[in-house]
Amino acid sequence: MSSPISEIRKQPKTWTKGEYLVSTDTSLIPIQTLNTWYAGEEFYWAKPMPELALRETIQNSLCFGLYHNPIQSDKSPENHTSNSTLEFVGFARCVTDYTTFLFLTDVFVLSSLQGLGLGTWLVTCVQEVIETMPYLRRSLLLTGDWKRSVPFYEKVMDMKLMLCNPPVDGKDAVGFAVMQRKSWGAPEFGEMP
Ligand SMILES: CC(C)(COP(=O)(O)OP(=O)(O)OC[C@H]1O[C@@H](n2cnc3c(N)ncnc32)[C@H](O)[C@@H]1OP(=O)(O)O)[C@@H](O)C(=O)NCCC(=O)NCCS
Repeated sequence: MSSPISEIRKQPKTWTKGEYLVSTDTSLIPIQTLNTWYAGEEFYWAKPMPELALRETIQNSLCFGLYHNPIQSDKSPENHTSNSTLEFVGFARCVTDYTTFLFLTDVFVLSSLQGLGLGTWLVTCVQEVIETMPYLRRSLLLTGDWKRSVPFYEKVMDMKLMLCNPPVDGKDAVGFAVMQRKSWGAPEFGEMP
């Protein structure tokens, strides 16, 4: 019997909220737009790459695209895959073996749409999938944004700080925060219900 996460690889999963859609379907991702985002200042941890390399990266990752779809309503799921109307507005990518380990990266919402709850929703969709992985030992992420991202991931994904260079003698924390959330595959966890 295959796990729900294996099913996602064959049959992409979607979530809808008003005029927005989150989908794990990598064929919907406009590669050139993503590369433009990688070049931007907000993607301070990335830079653009050759299209073939980016395409392979996307295909080898569990990706969550966030799209604006003006013709969509929660009641019309048949419109979700009409990608001519989809505007790519956000992204999250999981580097994972689909079983024991997952690294969350490239979390992004267009700056014009930030602060509306879309980032929280996007990461909640990621977390929903994480919860279905019975042998996942840990999910992990790095962030350089101590002030906003650390509390954000603590709140939305129940991530905990793992290794860090905390503030010393009144000076700001330096470097990246490493955050993890242990899961059902960790020895101290029980069986998934
Ligand atoms: C992080 C990000 C995806 C949040 O998306 P969003 O749509 O603005 O998120 P929401 O509207 O659901 O919630 C905003 C929350 O995100 C928090 N946040 C976390 N990181 C943030 C960031 N870099 N910039 C702005 N807000 C951020 C805010 O503090 C806010 O918390 P609050 O609800 O307690 O006030 C978005 O701000 C972004 O793309 N930032 C630039 C890229 C980035 O830094 N990604 C994260 C790398 S770890």
